Amino acid sequence: MDYDEIIVSTEQLHDTVLELAEKINRVYDGIEKLVIVVLLEGARPFARDLVKHLELPLEIVYIKASSYNGGTSSSGKVDIQKQADLEQKLAGKDVLIVDDIYDTGLTLEKVTKSLASHNPKNMKICVLLEKMIKHKVEVPIDFLGLKIEDLFVIGYGLDHNEKYRELPFIATFTETQD
Ligand code: IMP
Ligand code: MG
Repeated sequence: MDYDEIIVSTEQLHDTVLELAEKINRVYDGIEKLVIVVLLEGARPFARDLVKHLELPLEIVYIKASSYNGGTSSSGKVDIQKQADLEQKLAGKDVLIVDDIYDTGLTLEKVTKSLASHNPKNMKICVLLEKMIKHKVEVPIDFLGLKIEDLFVIGYGLDHNEKYRELPFIATFTETQD
């Protein structure tokens, strides 16, 4: 086996996503349109499952944010690639950023700052997992799935060197096994 231990099962992931969707549905009830900004690649499976349960008028946009560059700890340098027409998609809109995991907080901080420059009406953050660590930057998370220990994890979008994203659960991973 390529991973150590399953820490969030497929069933738990399903229940967590459903609970988050119900909260989001309640908070944005009656909204004209919610713009979901999915941070690729990691948040893709989570966002895909989440939106299935959202009963809101949605527009989904994707941006690419990367900070790991292959290792099992954040490089600290966050690279963001946005589509050219993002500004007009976000200006004056209700925006929900969807990401896989809140680790150091550097990615979410950089993304929030970058998107705020496009003047959304309102911006909130939804993340599936939060590592229980002292984050380098504290970022307010509006919708949180689960808190996990400070371990490197893979699966459900999370990768190690672009591998394991397809696993239907979250598992711990130690680099020596690869
Ligand atoms: P941060 O900038 O350190 O908060 O890291 C955020 C990004 O790093 C996440 O969106 C993930 O893509 C990636 N990341 C953080 N922790 C892990 C992990 O345990 N496994 C895989 N990717 C991770
Ligand atoms: Mg990510």
